[in-house]
Formats: sequence, structure tokens, C-alpha cells
Amino acid sequence: MSKALGYNAFGGPEVQVSFERPDPAPGPAEVLIRVAAAGVNPLDHLLRSGHVPALNGHLPFPQVLGMEAAGTVLAVGDDVTGLAVGDRVTGFALTGAGTYAETTLLLGTSTARIPDTLPETWAATVPVAGTTALDVLDQLDLPAGASILVNGIGGGVGIALAQLAGDRGLVVTGTGGPAKRELVTATGATFVDYTLGEVVDRLRAHAPDGFDAVVDTVGGQSLRDVAPLAAKPDALIAVGDPSVAELGGAEVRRRLDRANLERVAELMVAGRLDPHISGAYPLTRAGEALALVESRHASGKLVIDMSL
Ligand SMILES: NC(=O)c1ccc[n+]([C@@H]2O[C@H](COP(=O)([O-])OP(=O)(O)OC[C@H]3O[C@@H](n4cnc5c(N)ncnc54)[C@H](OP(=O)(O)O)[C@@H]3O)[C@@H](O)[C@H]2O)c1
Repeated sequence: MSKALGYNAFGGPEVQVSFERPDPAPGPAEVLIRVAAAGVNPLDHLLRSGHVPALNGHLPFPQVLGMEAAGTVLAVGDDVTGLAVGDRVTGFALTGAGTYAETTLLLGTSTARIPDTLPETWAATVPVAGTTALDVLDQLDLPAGASILVNGIGGGVGIALAQLAGDRGLVVTGTGGPAKRELVTATGATFVDYTLGEVVDRLRAHAPDGFDAVVDTVGGQSLRDVAPLAAKPDALIAVGDPSVAELGGAEVRRRLDRANLERVAELMVAGRLDPHISGAYPLTRAGEALALVESRHASGKLVIDMSL
């Protein structure tokens, strides 16, 4: 049996419930892992709230929270290639099995072995925030020296973008609340505190002709406010708000394959990407981690660490 945190109905945090389930058996395309660490993401509470029925509307309750995890392979489905029992891996639970659990199923093609030196807590942040940041930069394909604005630079995707953009020689500016200033300036990015008012005017002061690209992780009115700062409309990318298309921009095109996971893991062990884990929680306190992310002001990444 495996302990898990999930929910018995769609709704707010009050529907969350701890329970035990049998270890799920892998289907032909899946791997069963013992979870060492799971990443905590906004998508987790969006799914719990029933806002993304296309992803989990068909699954039976109780559903388990979480989309990404790192751990050790316990069993491999017949059609999965390149993975074996005992491998340390990271990947996506696109199977619907959740990851806030002691064991879970990952999709074989969206699971990668991780380097020996990469801690599982870091590896657990590779699938969602890590590869999203990489996908944004691949999509933009900017030359070194180009300017980029990251709206919402202090969260999981934002802080990864800050580092990977800097690593590509881009000139990075980002917005965040006051608690993010130190974290962000340490990456070499210019920080603009959006809580001080007139954020667009203050950003314009940094880039009178606009930014070569604008990446938004916040959405809503904040996205609409910063969109005109993109030098060209198609240099606007949003990671969490599909309405970006109405502004002439695009959503990030995601790649969930093994090669992309490996690239991010390698950037981490090369010292070029730190997920900035601001909190690690035992499974018994996973609800607190999710509540912090749901507050929309989390710093860097939060993880569930099964060793705690
Ligand atoms: N398409 C995909 O595959 C994909 C993948 C990953 C994430 N996403 C989406 O991308 C979004 C961000 O994800 P995440 O993991 O980075 O979330 P996160 O870790 O919760 O970070 C969000 C950040 O936004 C900041 N923020 C909130 N309001 C702001 C504002 N008005 N201006 C500037 N910053 C503001 C928050 O902190 P402060 O306000 O305190 O600075 C926080 O650090 C979510 O909507 C998520 O669902 C999509």
C-alpha cells in the first residue's frame, strides 16, 4: 500500500484527503516508481478545483494530487524502452496517477534517467518548471544580447527562466513582489517590484523601445498590462494564460519528451540551473505546500520530500 494525498470531489482545499492505495500496476507505456520527491505546481490546485476537466474529468475519485516526481523505478511496462528497475528517474505522471504519493505511475516516454549527482528534490522540479522555461527560450530563439522581460520572475518558471535566459546571454528584467528582490537580483536580472505601482512606466524606463521578448507567468490583467512592452506582438509568450492569443502572442509550445527532461537535468548538474527550492515538506504536510502555491506568491519551487 502507498500513502497519498488527493481529493474525493472537485473543490477547494477542504476536499483534500489523505488515504492509502495499492501500488498501481504499470500499463504497457508506464513505469511504477517509488517517489522520492514530488514538485508542487499551480496545475495541482487547478486540477483539484475541476478547472481542467480535459485532463482529469474522466478519472475516478479519489484522485491523487501532483503531476511530476523523481524516484526509483520499481516496474516497467512492456512497451517502455530505455528504462529499467532500479533506475533513478524524473518524469510526468500524465497517467493521472498523481505524485503526492509514496508510489506512482509515470509515462515512459515522458520519464528520463537522472545523473547520479542530481538530488531527487531538484530532479522533481525538472518536468514542469524546468522544461517549461527551456521550451519558452527555444521558442523565442533570441540571439545573445537581446532583452527579455519575465513577468512574474520569482516563481518556479520565472526563476528558471531568469537563469537560463542569462545563461544564453540575454539581458533579463523581471517583475515580482518585494520578497523576490534578493533571489532575482542574485541571478543577474534587473528586478522591478510590481507592488510599488506604475510598473509599466518603470519597465519602460528600462526599455524605452520595448523588450525583444516578453514572457508572462502571471496572466490576466497583469499580462495585458505588460503585453505592449513586447517590441513585436509575436514576441509575447504566456505560459499560463491562453488569452495571450487575443493580444497577438502565443502560448508556450511544450515538449514533454525524455530528451527535454535530460537537457534540464544536465543544466542542473552543470551548475547552470538551480530550481531555488524555498520549502521541502513531508507528505503529511503536502497540503501546506500546495496552499502556499495556491496563494500565488510562492518563491522558486516547493517540493514534497518523502525522506522527511
Ligand atoms: N503550459 C505549461 O505547461 C505550464 C507549465 C508550468 C506553469 N504553467 C503556468 O504558469 C504559471 C506560473 O507557474 P509557476 O509554477 O511559475 O507558478 P508559481 O511558482 O506559483 O509562481 C508564480 C509567481 O508569480 C508572482 N506574481 C503573482 N502576481 C504577480 C504580478 N502581478 N506581477 C508579477 N509577479 C506576480 C508570484 O509571487 P510574487 O507576487 O510574490 O512575486 C509568484 O512568484 C501558472 O499559471 C502555471 O499554471 C504552465
